[in-house]
Amino acid sequence: MNPVSTERRRVDAHGKVTGALRYGADRLPDDLAYAVFAVATIGRGRVLGVDTDAAQRVPGVQLVITRIDPDELRSPGFIMGGGYGFQSLQPLADDRVAYRGQPIALVVADTLLAATEAAELITATYEAEPFTATLDAPGAETVVQAQALPIPMLADTVVGDADAAYAAAPVQVDIEVHGPAQHQVPMELISSVVEWRGDTLVVHEGTQNSGAIQNGVAQQFGIEPGRVEVISPSVGGGFGQKNSLQPHIGPLAVAARRLGRPVKLVLTRPQTFHQASFRPASRQRVRLAADASGRLLAAIHEIDQQTSRHDLFPAMYTEVSSRLYGIGDFRGRQRLIRTDVQTPGYMRAPFEHMSCFAMESAVDEIAYATDQDPVAIRLANDAAEDPVTGLPFSSRHVAECLRRGAERFGWAERNPQPRSMQAPDGALIGWGVAIGAYPGNVAPAIARLSADAAGTIIVAVAGHEMGQGIRTAITALVADDLGIDPAAIEVSVGDTRHTPQHLTAGSWGTATALPAVHAALRRLRARLGVPETGAVDLHSAVATAGGTRVEVEATTVGVGQPAEPVVDRLRKGLVAIAGPEYPGFVTFSYIAHFVEVRVEPTTCRIRVPRVVSVADCGRVASPVTATSQVRGGVIWGIGATLREQSLVDPRYGGFLNSTMEEYPIVVNADVHQIDVHFVDEPDPLLNPVGVKGLGEVAMVGVSAAIGNAVFHATGSRFRRLPIRIEDVLASL
Ligand code: MOS
Repeated sequence: MNPVSTERRRVDAHGKVTGALRYGADRLPDDLAYAVFAVATIGRGRVLGVDTDAAQRVPGVQLVITRIDPDELRSPGFIMGGGYGFQSLQPLADDRVAYRGQPIALVVADTLLAATEAAELITATYEAEPFTATLDAPGAETVVQAQALPIPMLADTVVGDADAAYAAAPVQVDIEVHGPAQHQVPMELISSVVEWRGDTLVVHEGTQNSGAIQNGVAQQFGIEPGRVEVISPSVGGGFGQKNSLQPHIGPLAVAARRLGRPVKLVLTRPQTFHQASFRPASRQRVRLAADASGRLLAAIHEIDQQTSRHDLFPAMYTEVSSRLYGIGDFRGRQRLIRTDVQTPGYMRAPFEHMSCFAMESAVDEIAYATDQDPVAIRLANDAAEDPVTGLPFSSRHVAECLRRGAERFGWAERNPQPRSMQAPDGALIGWGVAIGAYPGNVAPAIARLSADAAGTIIVAVAGHEMGQGIRTAITALVADDLGIDPAAIEVSVGDTRHTPQHLTAGSWGTATALPAVHAALRRLRARLGVPETGAVDLHSAVATAGGTRVEVEATTVGVGQPAEPVVDRLRKGLVAIAGPEYPGFVTFSYIAHFVEVRVEPTTCRIRVPRVVSVADCGRVASPVTATSQVRGGVIWGIGATLREQSLVDPRYGGFLNSTMEEYPIVVNADVHQIDVHFVDEPDPLLNPVGVKGLGEVAMVGVSAAIGNAVFHATGSRFRRLPIRIEDVLASL
């Protein structure tokens, strides 16, 4: 199906399919105790009392904690406010209930059964207060981001005078789109095994950010970070929900210390909907103007995004919408809406997915208003340089993505008239296109290589394997560089014992880890006295270098980053990213999606039989896992457009459909042909390996491509995601 090499398979494939691979909490030390949370059942207020008597009487219950003194366990701080937690709120610290589903007690027992039974017997009395569950409800407080968070990265993007240019333009489109709250629903539940070994705390957890857990827990307890070890060899999906210190780890460590036993916690699926981050609801207005030929003249992009009462989760939607096309006049405005919920956060393409749904829907409307082909109008408006800074793009092959995608999809056969194409069974056929972009960020990294005379090499580097294939990409780089068998390479990621660990997110994993490993390989060659390139006989080279083992280390930072302060932040487990603006250039990854939908005439069910996606992620570091990433991103896009929504009842708060039965992620029956291709042109400036990011750009633009295809099929625009059968039924 895809013309990619299968030479380099996923290095952990065998372990995955046989169940041999160990995930964070797949650990059963002797004397393990099991923890379960009881949670608040009101939307907001105070806990007056917690009745734990019945819970305490359950056989096997060892400990029930309803309050932890803030002197014993401090707030983890908010990750976007200089701290480590997905939110600043530390449950059990006081009597406050900030949202439905917040923990109010922790039960620890000899068995999971006993802990679960006891947690269910816990009751509480509350003083309930009014609360706000949705963007439009009374009590929703609007905060202007540029004023509340006055840092350059979060300022409103303003280039030229978009309002004047829009008002003067002959063709105008003015749309408002709505995105629901959604949850990441990774297959591996959020889970930990926490144990004290002497005065060292060991945390096993599937995470994208072992460095934040290490430093954050240390800060919470007031101990040295060197006394915390975090081990996260493989993660069963992160998607942003596992990208920071979870507030359960502190209470688990308290329980483990009091009991003198290791403690394991696996959040239930409904608890992952309330005790971890999610994609916030948003509403976005786009005003887009063009001349009669379809040349885009001005864009105004205004966003209201949900946040919590206790933290401001910053919005960054206009970073990408301002760069999609060569539009000279652009004005962005981002506001945050406080509601009574846990703090939302990053979920795959956290801003770019909705930002491009809004923009690329508007571009499609401009194409129809000016009688232009949707592919041709995108090619004609491509940006020659970055419209925000005037700097060149380090690489930008979005036009090539569009051309190649149109060719492979057979776009030339499209009749542009809505409702003009029909299948033999009567289904309306629609073809739609949209592009996506995602900022090219990178983080500092330290890589350690250890080669021995037996010819094996151990690579330890900052990064986390959450299924995206970072271990495979690192293995491929080392194997190709040294000309050695991948089986001789062992990769350690997500382990604070081996090298400092930075957050792996924002699609910067590959462009962060590979340059560090590349630099370490140069050091290794120098130490071994072998040429800069070409195959190396490690066995004899290590022996000649005079020993049984040669170890080297290299540190890399993003272009233009001041090394010392960012490496200091790396060591402290703090976010230290560079990009997408660098000294002298700007970096984004790109994709073009071509989608066919079929709308059944009686049920109005929308199917997506065929998708062609062509990505520009720089050099493709690992074809097999890259293809899989794009396929997964498209599947996420199908879910985001047609299925996924975390439902909220304003009378109760919390999220209603917090199980896998009721939160409809895409299943095999929803997924048909997804044809993935890559431009595969190395980026010449971002790093010497030539790689940019991929995991998130893969889903950016899918919703707009589907929405545009649904318009082509039905003649109706649907501005509220997900597009539901009942919406289509009502429109026909
Ligand atoms: Mo990912 S949404 O960048 O943690």
